[in-house]
Amino acid sequence: MDRKSQGISFRLNVPSLQIAQGEKIALIGESGCGKSTLLDILAFISQPSQIGAFRFRPVNTGEPIDVGHFWARRKLNRLGELRKRHIGYVMQTGGLLPYLTVRDNMSLSRNVLGLRDAGVVEQLARELGIARHLDKLPETLSTGERQRVAIGRALAHEPSIVIADEPTASVDPFAAEKIMSLFIGLAEERNITVIVASHAWRHIKRLGLRRLAHHTRRSKDGRTTETVVNG
Ligand SMILES: Nc1ncnc2c1ncn2[C@@H]1O[C@H](COP(=O)(O)OP(=O)(O)OP(=O)(O)O)[C@@H](O)[C@H]1O
Ligand SMILES: [Mg+2]
Repeated sequence: MDRKSQGISFRLNVPSLQIAQGEKIALIGESGCGKSTLLDILAFISQPSQIGAFRFRPVNTGEPIDVGHFWARRKLNRLGELRKRHIGYVMQTGGLLPYLTVRDNMSLSRNVLGLRDAGVVEQLARELGIARHLDKLPETLSTGERQRVAIGRALAHEPSIVIADEPTASVDPFAAEKIMSLFIGLAEERNITVIVASHAWRHIKRLGLRRLAHHTRRSKDGRTTETVVNG
């Protein structure tokens, strides 16, 4: 993936990356090293500038889907459908809709797919400790509570993968560790694959995540940066 703005260029190079169903992966690195760029590619949000191969097998038994082919043919609807069905995304900025209640925010991904609720949202809210806030608007919640809602929303439609971009960036380290451990526990119970980006390895190393190897190089004049990810 190549990105350029105002003469500063950034390249993310992924020679090889394989993530198994149910694995829990951590992508740790300094600001600007390309964490969000990689997560957006893995969630079919950003199109890589060049693709060797990009395959996605949402269920263990099925045939892999050729994501590279969909990008090359610009089949954005197909990619959108795959994303809606199989991926949950916890955004770096939370991304809750301010005019919807906590319950409606969490139900959104199920409603879009036409799935019946069957108590899934309430159950998740209880497990995340936010059941008493279900009928409130996000703005009346604390930052940590909002982050738990965002995690609940990403899990509610029972995706095969949840991608989380710094889901605990704006709370104190103690709360961050608690929320992260809650999140990983819920994903584990449901055999959901997790890919999480964070600045800090300290909070999550105890949770048994596999740390993704990467290497960032900056040119002497600081105008080009390249990050290589392998794993
Ligand atoms: N839309 C864009 N256009 C051009 N360059 C971009 C764009 N988005 C990000 N970049 C650049 O790509 C590089 C990687 O950005 P990215 O957001 O992936 O970093 P990050 O590791 O997620 O950082 P942070 O920890 O601050 O969230 C940065 O140098 C950034 O300036
Ligand atoms: Mg980022």
